[in-house]
Amino acid sequence: MTRTLTFLGLESSCDDTAAAVVRMEATGPRILASVVAGQTALHAPYGGVVPEIAARAHAEKLDLCVEEALAEAGVTLADLDGVAVTAGPGLIGGVMSGVMCAKGIAAGAGLPLVGVNHLAGHALTPQLTEGLAFPYLLLLVSGGHCQFLIAHGPEDFTRLGGTIDDAPGEAFDKTAKLLGLPQPGGPAVEAEAMSGDPKAVHFPRPLLDRPGCDMSFSGLKTALLRARDAEVAEHGGLRRQARRDLCAGFQAAVTDVLAEKSRRALREYLAHAPEHPAFAVAGGVAANATIRTRLEQVAAEFGATFAAPPLKLCTDNAAMIAYAGIARFEAGAQDGMDLSARPRWPLDRSAPAMLGSGKKGAKA
Ligand code: KG4
Ligand code: ZN
Repeated sequence: MTRTLTFLGLESSCDDTAAAVVRMEATGPRILASVVAGQTALHAPYGGVVPEIAARAHAEKLDLCVEEALAEAGVTLADLDGVAVTAGPGLIGGVMSGVMCAKGIAAGAGLPLVGVNHLAGHALTPQLTEGLAFPYLLLLVSGGHCQFLIAHGPEDFTRLGGTIDDAPGEAFDKTAKLLGLPQPGGPAVEAEAMSGDPKAVHFPRPLLDRPGCDMSFSGLKTALLRARDAEVAEHGGLRRQARRDLCAGFQAAVTDVLAEKSRRALREYLAHAPEHPAFAVAGGVAANATIRTRLEQVAAEFGATFAAPPLKLCTDNAAMIAYAGIARFEAGAQDGMDLSARPRWPLDRSAPAMLGSGKKGAKA
């Protein structure tokens, strides 16, 4: 890195409209501003993200977020060296809103445009926040995704395995819905679980009996539904403590599966890169304290450094997109006005396609 680069980043692939300004300096990257406008209230009446509502809200809010981010960073368009935007994977209407907004700014201000893979944004966050060097093993665990990746470079990833159905964040969200808790479900379920007994109700640990790093979380939702119905049938309703116990049991099952699969992924990764024992976690579910702590313990078992971004950079944001844009740009990449929005965009192009469809649309 020889010159200072300042990028505006835009993110609109799910239910967060975000704009950020990141500056790459000789000493490393610095976040000058990161603005996130969530849409939780808009989707709340429907119990999940409604793609059409999300796309319209992004189109309405993007300009405002950009203005706010530039003002907070104390820069104008003339101070920027480029515009980075999430070009996929995600809900297509939202991604298109972001891509069109970025094209407008880039064309109007005569700036380079860089399309960014949303997953690369999450995957590179440990570099942005902890200065973690390549290579490292990454567990990307969010509302739409769950996969183990070896990060070799800004655009070079090998997938070791991932979920074959739901993503853990999606399972947290469904659990909250089934138990009458608010969305997004992760923080709500985590808060309930704090005063629950994780052993009161037994939940399965799917796919631990099979070798490899693939995971499955959809069965946990069925187990939860059965346990909830049994509780309601026996007591005529869901008692407060029973709800806490269900949340704790569910969270413990997700944590156990992620921990054991992380051990396997670390073994595989370390066979490939014994000189670089580093394990990072990113994505919205990485904000969960129980999961974070357990994964940190797993890293310690292997003598590996553990990196987890600060909570607000675990969930969707545009700082990670601006940073990933700078990394692509530095590597010589740039997009034209023909940049298109991609609903599906796997990080590891050689890996077989993932099955299923999450709240962010088709899985990459
Ligand atoms: O990365 P993110 O903002 O969006 C996606 O790319 O999916 O992740 C959002 C997901 C939601 O499903 C949310 O319930 C989950 O992350 N999440 C959590 C927590 N905070 C957010 N899950 C478990 N525990 C949390 N504390
Ligand atoms: Zn995300």
